[in-house]
Amino acid sequence: MRLPKIAILISGTGTNMEAIVDACATGELQAEVTFVGSDRANAKGLKTAASYGINTTVFCYKDMGRNAAEKAIAEAIDETCSEWIVLAGFMRVLSPAFVKRFTGKIINIHPSLLPAFPGAHGIQEAWDAGVDVSGVTVHIVDEGVDSGPILAQEEVARLPEDTIDTFEARIHKTEHRIYKTTLKKVFEDNRKNK
Ligand code: GRF
Repeated sequence: MRLPKIAILISGTGTNMEAIVDACATGELQAEVTFVGSDRANAKGLKTAASYGINTTVFCYKDMGRNAAEKAIAEAIDETCSEWIVLAGFMRVLSPAFVKRFTGKIINIHPSLLPAFPGAHGIQEAWDAGVDVSGVTVHIVDEGVDSGPILAQEEVARLPEDTIDTFEARIHKTEHRIYKTTLKKVFEDNRKNK
């Protein structure tokens, strides 16, 4: 069976990326990671990806600007014949032109029950709002911020004994599980519909 090819974009620690890469390595997720790209050269996840033998690339937004960086990402996608772009803590908003070019093929994970608490501080904002329940959302990226069609959601309760750190840790743990299971379903559905 030909495996779906996925490119992963990160900005930081890359624990979601690692969960996906690991699932591909064990065969739990039947996909091939073509490369891991980052907008920041010092993203910790780049070293993690390299330790799995995966090619890494830096698209330095700071030096290149968004247009040139996105052009370079698109070229890398084409060169590696990647069919999916998986965002895993990629802290840049993709331009409408980029999103249009890869319509339906860019997937993101967000640490809240969207549409609640979009943006860069979903966990902190849910905590500050005193919610009893927050969670995780996996969605297709559209031209807005954290606004595309939802593929999967899972609730994470805020427990009376929680601190923000324990609450956050449980959300991340949920992310690591739900991202790979959702991608698995997306790839299977895509194969069936071909
Ligand atoms: C995750 O909480 C993800 O939902 C959000 O950014 C965070 C990235 O964490 N988009 P990591 O780099 O995967 O550890």
